[in-house]
Amino acid sequence: MNNEAIRQQVEALLSQMTLEEKAAQTVQVPYTVVGREESLRWAKLGAGSFLHVLGDDAREVQQTAMQESRLGIPVIFGIDAIHGHGLNQQAAIFPSQLATACTWDPAVAEEMGRVTAREVATDGLHWTFSPVCCLGRDSRWGRIDETFGEDPYLSGEMTYGIVKGYQGDSLDADDSILACAKHYIGYGEAVGARDAVDTQMTYRKMKEVFVPPFQRAVDAGCATFMTAYGSIDGHSFTADPKTMKTILRDEMGFDGFVVTDWNNCGSLVTQQFVAEDMQDAAVQAAEAGNDMIMSTLEYYDAVITAVRAGKMQEAVLDEAVRHILTMKLRMNLFEKPEKTGVPGCIGCEAHRDAAYRAAKRSVTMLKNSGMLPLRSVKKIAVIGQNADDIQSQYGDWTYLTHPNAEAAREPLRPYVTVKEGFEALGAEKGVEIVYHPGCAVRPLPPEVLAMFEGPALKDPVAEAVRQKAMKRRPPADDIPGAVEAARSADAIVLVVGDTIDQHGEYKDRADLALSGQQMALYRALRALNIPLAVVLVSSKPLAIPEIADSADAVVVAFNGGQFGGQAVAEAMFGLFNPSGRLPISFPAHSGQLPVYYNALPGWHGGRYMDMPRTPVYAFGEGIGYAPFTYANLTFDADTLLATVDVTNAGNIAGDEVVQVYMHDVVASVIRPVKQLIAFTRVTLQPGETKTVSIQLKRDDFSLVNREEKRVVEPGAFELFVGHSSKDEDLLKTEFRL
Ligand code: BGC
Repeated sequence: MNNEAIRQQVEALLSQMTLEEKAAQTVQVPYTVVGREESLRWAKLGAGSFLHVLGDDAREVQQTAMQESRLGIPVIFGIDAIHGHGLNQQAAIFPSQLATACTWDPAVAEEMGRVTAREVATDGLHWTFSPVCCLGRDSRWGRIDETFGEDPYLSGEMTYGIVKGYQGDSLDADDSILACAKHYIGYGEAVGARDAVDTQMTYRKMKEVFVPPFQRAVDAGCATFMTAYGSIDGHSFTADPKTMKTILRDEMGFDGFVVTDWNNCGSLVTQQFVAEDMQDAAVQAAEAGNDMIMSTLEYYDAVITAVRAGKMQEAVLDEAVRHILTMKLRMNLFEKPEKTGVPGCIGCEAHRDAAYRAAKRSVTMLKNSGMLPLRSVKKIAVIGQNADDIQSQYGDWTYLTHPNAEAAREPLRPYVTVKEGFEALGAEKGVEIVYHPGCAVRPLPPEVLAMFEGPALKDPVAEAVRQKAMKRRPPADDIPGAVEAARSADAIVLVVGDTIDQHGEYKDRADLALSGQQMALYRALRALNIPLAVVLVSSKPLAIPEIADSADAVVVAFNGGQFGGQAVAEAMFGLFNPSGRLPISFPAHSGQLPVYYNALPGWHGGRYMDMPRTPVYAFGEGIGYAPFTYANLTFDADTLLATVDVTNAGNIAGDEVVQVYMHDVVASVIRPVKQLIAFTRVTLQPGETKTVSIQLKRDDFSLVNREEKRVVEPGAFELFVGHSSKDEDLLKTEFRL
């Protein structure tokens, strides 16, 4: 159907809808919260969308909507399928967004999006609440793992890839789903990295730093946006027409529909205290430009009453309904309400293989004093809870963390933990692998332990939950045991990190030092004087300066998904040459945050007297088994073409990510000390040199001025090209535009 035909059909439908039906169309019902009966009642009323419902339950809702609501408008189902269709136990589980960003490869994001779309659509669903385009600039935030890291450009490129992957060539294809760029905007910039509080932001800063990744979502044709919990200068984003209409629709050119985040509308009354009652909140949210209201079911009555009382024009609701119906028609839902996907594809071999390849590409080696790859070793001690904890490896938003019904589900095979990866390769290579958990990543509070150790509970349901939770009980601390296990090894692989209790919504951390006895475990193992590699299986960068200093090797895997452990083992045995690069800085200490590379310059050096200014590991860092050297940087200011010679100075083929940064020497506003504007990947054989050309655009040098307009200001610029954001890794040239 062409745009004009869609427009006419939307208007025809709209003209038949009652006020109640329009209001219902803008409501998104949380199935798991309200249950089946209530969901079916909403379907009959003509609710526009449901979230968190799968399979036959979803089919029943759809049939009810189509057959028993007056106009039979199909509903759309949304789900949080954010690194694979993880809430389905059979699905292929990919590395987290943060881990995926370590690939610095939008094609990997696109493939993850494509696979996820096929699997979600096969479950009959239409829409994923992904990607997160918020920046991760303060790792204390609980949702850092959901971001593509700290940089607007990298995040934007990965966003572009994943949105293309989700949505495919056409929204009405059986295996395409709607993407949702969230959380618009500034969620990651909440003060003190405290989830969902207010944001230290101005519109200019918003446009310069935080809009770009969202703009790339729009460029990729992203169908929906989700609003953020936060606020700007005293205005809730949810009720801010400038953010939601002027910037999003007029300036960015977004033409899809906007959904609020969970109860954002209600929280105008209950959390942010800017609305007197639900009616006031409903009017504010609708007038600001929210088309669909997630989970605030009171919105329905409130908005109807507000229109009847003359407090809001019905035309406001019409516009929201228009946006929603247009998308339903673009998806061809009236003809084909249920996506069929690709029957049999959920968790199929090809999809798992894609998750495995993404995991390999995400492995990021940060230090290697020569102990890796592991060769001529006879015995390896693999130590640490997270070496064999699939829930930590998966991270957030899988069936293990967001069970729709049960408290703690059994992890389903196939998956490979780090320990299992080492065991499999050890068996192949005749290397003995011993494992010891060492200590709990996060020891349980005494009251929980007491519950585990106490007698069986009388209530059988509660007892079943307890039994399941006990299966996920962390190991007891036993550092001497770990030391004993490691004593006769030729190499130690210590896996440290965090657990799901330490990240996610509501779980920001004030302290990013390794929790529990993990540092004591490290020191005890280090004292053995056996080559020691530390692997980080965690949701985010943790503060590990001592480890960075004294370990023989450091490898970051973040939440690597189903085959994260296998990827780590293969990289460390040298089966492939790791090429991950950090999308985020590693702080030396929680108190050093924020420590992102593209900071604004300041008078007094921008440092604490008791802490260096630089992070432990910087944005863009990452090494493989071959070093790369750079020479002969040229830049033509007329054609905007940069060239540089990159040489593989090692004896193994490898991938280098050539990174391009710029600095605006004098500008009307203070600019970052450097800013990533391009990157490209090059594969080089041992000893090979390639001249890499990178075509830049004039807009890459733009800024947002005090009038909030994006402009290029002529003048002097510096261009840096090289291996990472660190000064010593970059060649520099100067030019004028
Ligand atoms: C989160 C969103 C998520 C939504 C639906 C909210 O609490 O902030 O990211 O998509 O819930 O699950």
